[in-house]
Amino acid sequence: MTDATGPAILATIIAHRGASGDAPENTLAALSLAADHGARCVEIDVSISSDGVPFVHHDDTLERCTTGKGLLCEHLAVDLDQLDASKGMPDYAGEVLPRLSAVIDLLEARGLGLNLEIKPRKGLEDETVEAICKLIEGRWPAHLPLVFSSFSRPSLTAALHRLPAVARALLVGAIPDNWQSLVLQYGCRNIHCDGSKLTATQGAALRQADLGVYCYTVNEVDRARTLLKAGAHGVFTDYPKLLARHLET
Ligand code: G3P
Ligand code: MG
Repeated sequence: MTDATGPAILATIIAHRGASGDAPENTLAALSLAADHGARCVEIDVSISSDGVPFVHHDDTLERCTTGKGLLCEHLAVDLDQLDASKGMPDYAGEVLPRLSAVIDLLEARGLGLNLEIKPRKGLEDETVEAICKLIEGRWPAHLPLVFSSFSRPSLTAALHRLPAVARALLVGAIPDNWQSLVLQYGCRNIHCDGSKLTATQGAALRQADLGVYCYTVNEVDRARTLLKAGAHGVFTDYPKLLARHLET
């Protein structure tokens, strides 16, 4: 965590929701497997329980990935702790829905950098950012890379004001025409974008502007090579083992 400028470097290969092609997404098992598979950095999605505890989970609702029902933000942390998050991957039965605090412990133990995607329920942006920042400022190991990103512009604003020293990434699908003003407005050092939409011209312009460029979700080696040539510093992938075998990191 510094007030540095220029690209906030994570890693060439970032395990998207952990090694989520081989283990249940956003779980401790998936993050640990990402480290086993050679990743040096992971991406996770974070939102909060009804009592303001940050949990690592992609969707607003619990059904797709867990044994729970309804909105994550309407459940107490102690109840979320009881859920099984291994849905669809029986080999991982018993894998919990992780609190962000448990993830930080694991990342420190495994020496993994982090792109923390702030994924608030709409209307809970400030509470979500506050809960995340409180944990991060007390617990994040300063020697490991850390970048906040979000599709939610109110969340980027809240993060900028609450913990400006943590680098921010503008998270987008295609690169918007007004990317320069957005980057300035939210004080972003990086842009994280949909790899299927980035052109070589855009990649060059982003690099020329001294921004960090990371692309999601890239599960093919050739596509990763093309994006790296087009200016990406790295890619998010569900299969870090596959990419680590073929790319220089
Ligand atoms: O942060 C990159 C990527 O995770 C953004 O999309 O929907 O997978 O969270 P999503
Ligand atoms: Mg994400």
